[in-house]
Amino acid sequence: HRLRILGIPMDLGQQRRGVDMGPSAVRYAGLYERLRGLGHQVEDAGNVPVPVRHEAAVQARSWTETPEGGLHHLPAVVQACQQIFDAAQASAASQEIPIFLGGDHSIAIGTVSGMATAGPLGLIWVDAHGDFNTPASSPSGNIHGMPVAVLTGRGHPDLVDLGYPGAKLLPQHIVLVGVRSLDPEERVALAGSGINVYTMRDIDELGMATVARRALSRLSSLARIHVSIDMDAIEPAVAPGVGTPVAGGLTFREAHLLMEILAESEKVRSVDVVEINPILDEGNRTAELAVELIASLLGQRIL
Ligand code: ARG
Ligand code: MN
Ligand code: MN
Ligand code: MN
Repeated sequence: HRLRILGIPMDLGQQRRGVDMGPSAVRYAGLYERLRGLGHQVEDAGNVPVPVRHEAAVQARSWTETPEGGLHHLPAVVQACQQIFDAAQASAASQEIPIFLGGDHSIAIGTVSGMATAGPLGLIWVDAHGDFNTPASSPSGNIHGMPVAVLTGRGHPDLVDLGYPGAKLLPQHIVLVGVRSLDPEERVALAGSGINVYTMRDIDELGMATVARRALSRLSSLARIHVSIDMDAIEPAVAPGVGTPVAGGLTFREAHLLMEILAESEKVRSVDVVEINPILDEGNRTAELAVELIASLLGQRIL
C-alpha cells in the first residue's frame, strides 16, 4: 500500500499539556521505518498546523469555570479541524491510506469527516470512553469527549457542520470497542443511539476474537473502514502515557488481536492514533506500543 503519515499536534480538545507531542513520540518510536519494513510505500507528510494554546487565557480561568459557549477552545478546534478535513478529503480521493497521529481525539471530527467525503464509511472507535458527549451533557466542556456525537450530527453546529452540513456517519455504521467509562447523560444517549457498543464486559465474556469479528460483521455492507485508536482503550499499566486513563483496559494481546483481525478484512482505509501524552509516559512505551498496533493493523503478522 501507499501510506501517508500526517501529524496533528492538537491539545485544545482537553485540559492537559503534552498531548501535542504525540506525533513526535510516535515518529521517534520508529513508525516510518516499521511500515517501510512491511513493504509499504510510506510518505511522512509532516504536521497539520494547529493554533498554539493561549495559555494566558487558560490560566486566567479556574478549572471548574464553564468556558464560553460551554466548550473549551471551540474556534481554534474548528479552525484546526477544517485543515484536517481538507487533508483527509485529499487522502480519501487518492489511493493512499492516511495515518493520522494525534493529538487529542477532537482531531477525529476532521479526519473522519474528510474520509467520509469519498463514500459510505464504517467507523471502528477503540476507546475507554464513548466520546458521545454534547455541550449539554459534557461535564468537562472538553471537545475530545464529543467527536462520536458530532459525527452523528449531535452537538455544536460549528463542529457538526465541519466540511459540509450535518451528520457524517449513520449510527449503525459505528462500532465502539473497549468502552468502560461513560458520563451519566452520555450513557443514556449512547444506549439509545443505534451505535454498536462492545464494552469491556463484552470483551471479557465473549473474548476479543468474537468481538472483533462481530464488529466487522456490523460493517459488512461497507467497503471502507476508518479505525480510530484512542490509546486510553489499553490498560493504563501497559499504556500509561495518556491524559484520561481508566483501569481495566485492553491487554497488550487483546489490542494486537483486534488489529490483526481488522487487518484481515482488507477494508481499513484510514487510521487515527490519538491521546498519547509523552509527558505522562514511562519512557516512550505508549508510543512504541502505538507503532506495534499500527503495524499489526497494516499487515504485520507473527507467522
Ligand atoms: N467523558 C469525559 C469527557 O467528556 C472524558 C472524555 C475522554 N475522551 C478522550 N478522547 N480521551 O470529558
Ligand atoms: Mn481558552
Ligand atoms: Mn478515551
Ligand atoms: Mn477518545
